[in-house]
Parts: sequence; structure tokens; C-alpha cells
Amino acid sequence: MKYYIKTFGCQMNEHDSEIIAGILESAGYQPAEDLAAADVIVINTCCIRESAENKIWGYIGNLKACKYQKPGVILAAVGCMMQQKTIVDLLKRQGRHLDIVLGTYQQHRLPEYISRVLAGESPIVDISEDNQDFPDELPCRQSCKYSAQVNIIYGCNNFCSYCIVPHVRGRERSRDFSAIMSELHSLAKTGIKEIMLLGQNVNSYGKDWRRQGQTEAPDFADLLQAASQVEGIERIRYMSSHPRDFSPQLVDIISDLPKVRDYYHLPLQSGCDRILQAMNRGYSTADYQAILAQIREKTPQAAVTTDLIVGFPGETEADFQQTLDFVAKCRFDAAYTFLYSPRSGTPAATMAEQVPLAVKKERLQRLVALQNSISLEHNQEYLGQNVQVLVEGLSKNNPDFYTGRTSSNKIVIFKGQPEQIGQLVDLTITGAKTWHLEAF
Ligand code: 5AD
Ligand code: SF4
Repeated sequence: MKYYIKTFGCQMNEHDSEIIAGILESAGYQPAEDLAAADVIVINTCCIRESAENKIWGYIGNLKACKYQKPGVILAAVGCMMQQKTIVDLLKRQGRHLDIVLGTYQQHRLPEYISRVLAGESPIVDISEDNQDFPDELPCRQSCKYSAQVNIIYGCNNFCSYCIVPHVRGRERSRDFSAIMSELHSLAKTGIKEIMLLGQNVNSYGKDWRRQGQTEAPDFADLLQAASQVEGIERIRYMSSHPRDFSPQLVDIISDLPKVRDYYHLPLQSGCDRILQAMNRGYSTADYQAILAQIREKTPQAAVTTDLIVGFPGETEADFQQTLDFVAKCRFDAAYTFLYSPRSGTPAATMAEQVPLAVKKERLQRLVALQNSISLEHNQEYLGQNVQVLVEGLSKNNPDFYTGRTSSNKIVIFKGQPEQIGQLVDLTITGAKTWHLEAF
């Protein structure tokens, strides 16, 4: 039997798909070359914004044709979108051709459910958000030979008022420390040079154990320090972190870890204190600025990126102006910018004063224009500098060139060789654009 996985959404979903592939291959399935060749099609879904959901419904709708052409094909939809409270009703209308519907924490049961469908049972729906019994060790099919993602914590306790994640991924549950460390050691043995530690809020690692009274339980800083000791791993990244939990001690510890310290992603969301409070973010712009000042003082070479949402309910032009002013002050290397998207079941979705789409779009354009000019200025500071780049492969936009990343996560385009893929190479920066650097 052959499987095909289509993934939507964030890096956590990308990694979940690697695990689903690992689980299916351990059960004897093989990857299909394309959709048409597959006996089992898995759609790994995301519900963080409405735009993602719309795309996924479109994709699920198109799969009706596959079922029509090949009635025996098994269709499974998995992941966070499937865990929403309203999904069962929607599935009755738009997803009746699906055989299996699973939440994030039931994916390891896929082979068992496929056997049950083969035996005549369909549809099967299993969508609990409870992650307590989710196994700490699952097979994984690495999609990249030099960079790997490793889950460290599941779920989120933060309940930012716009965010659906805590409603679908359940409460924080840290993954066993020794399971993580043994995964890192085996990845290093296979030649992995870069790891990305994954969680909705990695800073919370270990806090669930401490809340249960295990005062000596390891925390995120301990994990970063231990991961830094793994020989062969040259770079350690993490995604995503929360400014409220970014303590001065953590910045101090990271500053002493060369494999970690050159890149920070610290989601700000808004530069207006009133909006931050309405978002339930738990920090002020002054708090944020204090962390940033410490990062810049300890590691002036570090790049800092952020996430920003425009058009949160009640955001006035003056509030938005405060975000622009704060972004100009923080001088991020880059920002991932999003239009606020109302998510059913979150407090913000029913707040009064929803901002019209046209206003959101216009604000987004101004924010992007400002950030682009700052990003370019940052990149120009690299001109003439020597950097070490982890080579990723041929550039998608220009196949005459190779692409890789600096320790500060900047993309560098250069004239490379196929044998350099997965290696660290030294380059001198000769050109700077908004989104990348050049070395040729
Ligand atoms: N609307 C827009 N952006 C959102 N994000 C999370 N929820 C929403 C939403 N409802 C953004 C945040 C978060 C990133 C992963 O997605 O900026 O940091
Ligand atoms: Fe969503 Fe906030 Fe949790 Fe991030 S920290 S996943 S934005 S609730």
C-alpha cells in the first residue's frame, strides 16, 4: 500500500507529517510518487487563520474526484483543524467522502484505523485534544539530511485572545527530557547539523512538571544547554517563544551558547499596550523593549525577528501608529505579518469593533513597507562581512545559484557545488536585498 501526505500550516505540522510518514512506513506502507498512485491520502490540516482553512476545504473538496476515480482510496484528514468543536457539522456538509478524521494526538493510531476502514468501517472520527497519552517516542521519516525538527512540548496554556491553538492542541505537556536527548544524539549520528526545537511555547518546557511539584525538573534553559553539548549539532533553533516567559536569566544563558545565540524569534503581535492587553499577551511594550535591549547588549550580532498581527478588534489608527513607531524603534531583522483572522470559539472573534478587511489590508501594507526598509538596512550591514552558511540546496528562484543560511538565519544566495549541500561553508557577502544576502 502507498501513502501520500499533503501538509498545510506551520513547522509543527511539517514535522507531524514526518512522524505520520514514519508511522505509516513502520507499518509497511511506502511513499507514493503522486496523489494518483496513493492508496491512502492524508491531509494534515491547520486552523490558525481562515485563509488556511479555506484552502484546505478546497483541497478536501477536490479529493471527491479521487474517490470517484478510485473508490478504494482511503482519505484521512488529521491535525488541528479537525479538532475544532464545529468540525463534525462541517464534515457532514463538506467532507462526507473522508474515511478517517483524527486530531493531532491520535495520528499514531492511523495504521489501526486504516485497517478498520479496509474491514468495512467508515467514517472513523477520533478528535480528542487530550495529549496526556500521546507517545513520547514515535518513528519519524526525516525529510532533510542536515536539518531536523524535534518536538519538546505539546499544547499551550496561554490563551491569547485571538488564538485557536490552545482550544485545539490542549494544555502544555513537556516531552520526556531523555527521549529528546536521545533523539538529538541519534540525529547527530546521521549527520544532522541543525535542529529546531518545536513547541507552541518552548519557554514553558518543564513548567508542567514543576507545577506538579517536581522542583528539580529540567526547564528550557537546561534543554538548550544539554542540546549544545551534542557533538555534530552545529546550530540550535527553537520555535516559538513567548516574550512573557523570556527571562533575563534565559537571555544570559543563551548568550553563552554559540550554537543558539545568533538568532531570536520573539513574537511581539502589537506595539500598542492597550491591544497587547486585549490580546492577553501578559507583557507591555516596555517589558518587550527590556528583553530586546538585553539581547542587543549581550549579542549585538544576533538577528531578531517577530510576528505581528494587524487589525485586532478595536485597533484604532492611533493604536496602529503606535505599532509602526514601536517597530521602527525595535528595528527587527524581519517580521512575519498577519491580518487578524477571527477564529470561532476565541474571545476576540466576538469582540465588538471588528476592523474592516480593507482597513486591515491597508495597515498591513504600511507595516510591510516600513519593515522592508528596516530589513534592507540590516542586510546592508552584512556587506563585506565573512559569514558561515549552512548550505540548503539549489535556489528555487534561480537554479544557477545555491542557497543557505547564516547562523543569524539570513538567507544567502551564492555560486555553490552540489557536494556542499548540508555543509558549512565560509562566504563573503557582496550584495544585500530585502529578503536575502548575496555572495558572488
Ligand atoms: N489571526 C492572525 N494571526 C494569528 N496568529 C495566531 N492566531 C492568529 C489569528 N487569529 C499569528 C500570531 C502567531 C503566529 C504563529 O500566527 O502572530 O505568533
Ligand atoms: Fe497561540 Fe498565544 Fe499559545 Fe502562541 S502563545 S500558540 S499565539 S495562544
